[in-house]
Amino acid sequence: MSQQHLDSLRAIVGETHVLCGADAVPFESDYRSVFHGRSLCVARPANTRDVSAVTAYCYANDLPVVPQGGNTSLLGGSVPDDTGTSVILSLARLNRVRALDPTNATMTLDAGVTLNQARATAEKAGALFPLRIGSEGSCQIGGNLSTNAGGTAVLRYGNMRDLVLGLEVVLPDGRIWNGLRGLRKDNAGYDLKHLFIGTEGTLGIITAAVLKLFPVPRSVSSAFLGLRTPEDVLAVFNLIRQRLGTDVTAFELISSDAMSLVLSHLAGQASPLADTHPWYVLVETSSNADQADAEAQLLAALSDAMELGHVTDAVMASNARQAAEFWMIREEISDAQTKARGSVRCDISVPLSSIPGFIHETTAKVLSIAPKARMIVYGHIGDGNVHFNPLRPDETSADEFLATHGNHIASVIDHAASELDGSISAEHGIGVAKRDELTSVRSREELEIAWAIKRALDPFNLLNPGKVLPTLSN
Ligand code: FAD
Ligand code: LAC
Ligand code: ZN
Repeated sequence: MSQQHLDSLRAIVGETHVLCGADAVPFESDYRSVFHGRSLCVARPANTRDVSAVTAYCYANDLPVVPQGGNTSLLGGSVPDDTGTSVILSLARLNRVRALDPTNATMTLDAGVTLNQARATAEKAGALFPLRIGSEGSCQIGGNLSTNAGGTAVLRYGNMRDLVLGLEVVLPDGRIWNGLRGLRKDNAGYDLKHLFIGTEGTLGIITAAVLKLFPVPRSVSSAFLGLRTPEDVLAVFNLIRQRLGTDVTAFELISSDAMSLVLSHLAGQASPLADTHPWYVLVETSSNADQADAEAQLLAALSDAMELGHVTDAVMASNARQAAEFWMIREEISDAQTKARGSVRCDISVPLSSIPGFIHETTAKVLSIAPKARMIVYGHIGDGNVHFNPLRPDETSADEFLATHGNHIASVIDHAASELDGSISAEHGIGVAKRDELTSVRSREELEIAWAIKRALDPFNLLNPGKVLPTLSN
């Protein structure tokens, strides 16, 4: 029977684009090799028509389909379960730029275009596509949409949901919905695209998108700060935002343990500051003023923050190369953690006003469980989003630390965020890892609505089954 499925899928996508056995293995685990599953095969269609044909075939033959983009998500959403029955549908070959309309400030891309390629396409057209995340060399536009990716420029430009005007989607039964509209105003009925954004491939397969383009700012200024407390971090954020408004593009936090970890990972890279500090912030502004004026504005705000005692030390990037070094330190933290193995990854958000209390209280609770844990705390603090990721002490193995403390520490962190009206997933989604936890942070009514939508579009639960939606008891 499975040979018959493989033959049928090969007839759709071509002999060489159905992979099984050893060839499928790289697709059966995620980028970090944390989640593992098995598949019937990987199908690599080249266009929307073939995505539709593969999906319709799977629907008719009761085969689960797992959409996969760059496979960089952190919660296992792109990995099949271990039954070996799913078809992994890789979007990588859908990689065409379909249209570029500088006057409308839009570009229409296939879903498998990588984020780097999307940014480069915009740049070639003299425009900016502003989504910026550390995985941008591998992650794809379809994956970014399906996870509603956030990243380091949300303060100014919003999440992926804010950057899209239209979608083309293949529905679980293979029908194609063409919603590739490039309108900034369109209230003609339900705005269906939002059903597919952030739902992690459980309702449809995104095959193309109309994305917004922005003017390239005339100048970009960056500074690296050393600070004493989370209260100081918040005070500086408020001061800079008040002065520079939406020019503040990034405001990224790094704890002292995160800084030591990333510097040891980036052998040869020195800290931008001479001394060590309990907290660091990377701030970036982008502006239509010229470079000298923009830098002077940021410097003036930072000088005032220093005078008020909120900033202990600061250095402004004197050129693009130095700014890139600041960013490398920030962006490499996640990979440094992956290499170190044994961190409890939590991605919470709370109202900004609750950030200092959250950090102090949760740190104390985690250290009461694992007194020698390293506090890898970093993230998009200007959005109230902290990656709060306690890491094993050097002398404890990853397996031992995670087996002994992993679940306990994760539940303490997520519970603390929930108690403060926060979220247990600010930007990384739910995947499989946080699925069951949803029942404790979402009401029965909310989950029933979600299941009703799922059943309406995917009555046989064949599209990315087991992801996002927890089973509800009767
Ligand atoms: P995948 O991992 O392949 O898939 C993610 C989910 O979307 C899965 O459920 C999959 O089934 C579904 N899917 C994929 N493509 C489609 C499609 N075309 N149609 C329907 N469903 C689809 N995330 C952030 O938000 N902010 C960050 O700052 C950030 N930084 C990161 C840094 C590193 C080093 C790494 C490894 C990850 C980071 N991430 C971040 C997480 C991850 O990169 C994002 O979630 C990204 O958007 C996933 O895109 P992808 O193409 O890799 O999707
Ligand atoms: C980051 C990822 C982990 O911000 O979201 O680096
Ligand atoms: Zn992040």
